Order: sequence, then C-alpha cells, then structure tokens
Amino acid sequence: MSKIDIIAGDALDELPKIQASSVDLVVVDPPYNLGKDYGNNHDIKGFDEYLEFSRKWLSETHRILKPTGTLYVFVGFRFISYLYDILDRDLQMFFNSWIVWHYTQGMGKTKGFSPRHDDILMFTKTKKPKFNLDAVRVPQKYYRDRNNMRGANPGDVWEFSHVHYCNDNRQNHPTQKPEGLIERMVLASSDEGDRVVDPFSGSGTTLRVCQQLQREAIGIEINPEYVTMTRNRLGGVFSGFDSVDPRMERVPRDLRRPELRGEYLENHREWFLTHHENAVKKFEDSVASMYGDQGSQRSRQMMLLEEREEYEPNTAIDSDEDSTWIVPS
Ligand SMILES: C[S@@+](CC[C@H](N)C(=O)[O-])C[C@H]1O[C@@H](n2cnc3c(N)ncnc32)[C@H](O)[C@@H]1O
Repeated sequence: MSKIDIIAGDALDELPKIQASSVDLVVVDPPYNLGKDYGNNHDIKGFDEYLEFSRKWLSETHRILKPTGTLYVFVGFRFISYLYDILDRDLQMFFNSWIVWHYTQGMGKTKGFSPRHDDILMFTKTKKPKFNLDAVRVPQKYYRDRNNMRGANPGDVWEFSHVHYCNDNRQNHPTQKPEGLIERMVLASSDEGDRVVDPFSGSGTTLRVCQQLQREAIGIEINPEYVTMTRNRLGGVFSGFDSVDPRMERVPRDLRRPELRGEYLENHREWFLTHHENAVKKFEDSVASMYGDQGSQRSRQMMLLEEREEYEPNTAIDSDEDSTWIVPS
C-alpha cells in the first residue's frame, strides 16, 4: 500500500516543512479568488494580496521539487498571466505545456460565451523532466500499418466531464476535479513509489488517484471538514476512476482482419482502460456496433460508414495521429 498523508493546515505553513528537492510531482488546484464557498473566507483576497499568496506557494513548490520534477497548476483567467510570469521569470522554471481542460457542461452566459474550459500550466524544474508518454497515450482513430497502435499523444486539450451529482463518487465539495484528469498528470509525470504533493487538496482527488496508482502522496487542506471527507474517500471501495477521456472508449476503424482485431482489443483494455472498469461496457458496445457481437464480424453499420466516408488509406490524417508516423522506406 502506498503512503498517503492528509494534513489539516495552511499550505503556507505546511509546505516549508517538506524537504527541499524531495518531490517528483506537485499538482496545485488553488482557490481562484472568486469568492467560492469553501466553508471559510479563504477565497476573497485583494488583487495584490492574492498574488503575494500565490508567489509564496509557487516558490515553495519550486523548492520541494526534484530536478526531474513537474508542477501542474490550475489557474483562473484573471491571474493566469501573472502566475505565468512568476513561474517563468521569477522562479526560472521551464514552460512545458498550457493544457486546456474542456468540459461540456457549466454555467451559461447570455452576454458573451459560456465558459467551457479551465487552464492548467505545466512547468518543470529543469529541462530534463520525467515524462511517461506511453502511460498516457490515447487510442488511434484508424487502424493503419503506419500508425503507432499503442496510441497517440493525448495533446494539450483534455476532455473530461465534471463529476456530476448523480455520480457515486461525488463529494460535497464545490470544485471537486475529475479523477481521470488528475490520473493523466500522475501517470505522465511520476512512477510507482514516487512522491506527489497537493497543497490545496480539497475533497482529496489527487490523494485518491495516487492511492490507486501506488504513489506516495501528501495533501494539505485548511478546512477540517474536507480533511474528514478525504479520509472517508480514501477508505471507500474502488470501482474505477470517476471520469474517462471519451477517446479511451473508442475502437479504431478499419480493424478488418479478425486475428489482428482480437489481439488489438485485448491490448486496448490493458493500455487504455486499466482503472476504468466502468468504461469497459461502453467500449465493448462500440466494438459490437462496429464489428459485430464478438468483434469478429463487420456489422452492416460499419460497412455503411465506410462506404459513406469513401476512405482512402493514405489521406486519412486526423488530429490524433501524432509524431508516431512510420515513414515508409
Ligand atoms: C479548488 S479547491 C481544490 C479541489 C480539489 N482539487 C478537489 O478535487 O477536490 C481549493 C481548496 O483549497 C483549500 N484552501 C484554501 N486556502 C488554503 C490554504 N491556505 N491552505 C490549504 N488549503 C487551502 C480550500 O478549502 C479548498 O478546498
């Protein structure tokens, strides 16, 4: 079992107690200063006060990271340019990615565009971070000899739905993040046994993900009720992460040869659906609708689809086909 600690306290007091250069990954989902009700008044600061607060915890996260370490920070639009500047110029960290978490439901606007994404900045301590691409690949859209069927790079736009109120894993916390989203950060930027820190751990999403992926983790949370919530969550039965990138449930088209298909489908489950038992049914339904009940016959629906698309093998480029092309010799 991995060691998971939840500390009841203020991140600004607790982070300095963590040894320098001892952490592989820091996931920070701070209060955005939007006046959210976290059962306290910690989300209403003046502009400069919020920046000063952010500068302090950003400096601490930089201090505790190992040279191979990575920091992911969720940032509200109002402060993103300022926080970017602190990371880039003050702390001299290395920009890696600006990730967009896209969700399909949320508040509506009548004068302007309804927000449907959050921004996440990914910075590393040095130019040589740990990064496990194979652990986070997504299925290809088409079966092609030239494609790496182990999967494509997931890119920097990640779709995960919010954890809805009808989801069994929904906690009584206003900004609970989907486990699938945090899983991708943990898999990409740490190995089993590595140490992960979440200084604003809320309902305990990062800790729960680390527990299931055999990472050590430390969470800090100022509200004692959320600390209790986290402890209960960590003690609960696990039946799969509460959210999945919809691309994981899709079956590549053109898997025509039954022997290839059987092997691929087995691998698909292991590569893309481990820890997502609750997504396997949808995947199997997709297989059945495309290739017949056992995945062994092409269904009429599939044949119609191919006829409609008039597919040409050499021109089927799509956004999920990444730099894993095999150039014909
Ligand atoms: C955006 S939420 C984190 C949500 C979390 N990622 C989840 O999935 O549940 C931010 C959390 O930071 C906590 N918080 C606010 N100020 C804090 C501080 N100074 N130290 C530690 N926690 C703090 C809030 O109580 C809130 O639960």
